[in-house]
Amino acid sequence: MKIIVTGGAGFIGGNFVHYMINKYPEDEIVCLDKLTYAGNMETLEPVMEKPNFKFVKGDIADRPFVFRLFEEEKPDVVVNFAAESHVDRSISDPGIFLQTNIIGTGVLLDACREYGITRYHQVSTDEVYGDLPLDRPDLFFTEETPLHTSSPYSASKASADLLVMAYYRTFKVPVTISRCSNNYGPYHFPEKLIPLMIANALNDKPLPVYGKGENVRDWLYVEDHCRAIDLIVRKGRVGEVYNIGGHNERTNLDVVKTVLRELGKSEDLITYVTDRPGHDMRYAIDPTKIHNELGWLPETKFEDGIKKTVRWYLDNKPWWENIISGEYQNYYEKMYKNR
Ligand code: NAD
Ligand code: DAU
Repeated sequence: MKIIVTGGAGFIGGNFVHYMINKYPEDEIVCLDKLTYAGNMETLEPVMEKPNFKFVKGDIADRPFVFRLFEEEKPDVVVNFAAESHVDRSISDPGIFLQTNIIGTGVLLDACREYGITRYHQVSTDEVYGDLPLDRPDLFFTEETPLHTSSPYSASKASADLLVMAYYRTFKVPVTISRCSNNYGPYHFPEKLIPLMIANALNDKPLPVYGKGENVRDWLYVEDHCRAIDLIVRKGRVGEVYNIGGHNERTNLDVVKTVLRELGKSEDLITYVTDRPGHDMRYAIDPTKIHNELGWLPETKFEDGIKKTVRWYLDNKPWWENIISGEYQNYYEKMYKNR
């Protein structure tokens, strides 16, 4: 089987490439990535020499390029991770989110129609469901929860999901969609909560917690997400949406304190800053469908996953120090100065 993995130089896509190359040496993986600020060839370094791996630099929204790639590679499966993925960036500059997340998805779907594939899988997010109130712990997102987005990021992801389902219904493109909760683990770009807090704490810099830190996210170790996508691609039903999450809800403050404890750093580093506009209160996934249909369950408990993650950042300082010493400094200044 030949699989095009888009966005494979990013956090989850990179972990997925590693997972698939190790698990299925007989499959071929072609990674298509534009190498935006979030794409990093060092993430792919462990697989670059593998005979069944190939990297192609390009933009999923570049139609002639994508069509040429499909013509040459004739993939069986496409798994689309490529996206602008950071909510805060979508608030300061929404345009590129529409271009990559919506137009790019549309181009990939057109290429799938033109050249024929056995499966197009869209990596979506629980953010398409909006948020849940803090005082209703009995409520969870199911696949039937209506789309109700808050940020330009989540609106662009929901738009892409609608396109995917439209191409299934109208053109019979064999699609699946997964909507996962917050991931954490190795190769996570340090603009996101957990790696940002690890990097800042290790540098004894303030840890910027938005609002009161009471917002709740449902954390899943990235390898559990990769395993779920692999199962959906191989055994999931065409035309279906699968939620992925492990019932692991934590407030942001709880997560930040856990990171500090793991690093042996003081809670005095915590600094409360102005809240994110439109900040979603709580995400919580009901994973009953993927469990019942595909037997998926998370394997890594948060207590173990966070230890492994902190260890990875301690053991791989050059990976994230390269990132935070470059253009990232301008981003950080713009996003956090005077906040
Ligand atoms: P990321 O920002 O770490 O990586 C995105 C990758 O896509 C980068 O390598 C980037 O270079 C590439 N890319 C961006 N625009 C591109 C384009 N136009 N053409 C080709 N490549 C392009 O993102 P991530 O956190 O790994 O998320 C991957 C996917 O998973 C996204 O679709 C995101 O919406 C979804 N998701 C993320 C999470 C999470 O917690 N991070 C949870 C659920 C779903
Ligand atoms: O739920 C899935 C989504 O999770 C994915 O679709 C997104 O691509 C991914 O980025 C993530 O979105 P969040 O907005 O939940 O992740 P982020 O790491 O940006 O923030 C997590 C929480 O931490 C959120 O409530 C905002 C808060 N936060 C974040 C940062 C960067 C802070 O308090 N301080 C910070 O500096």
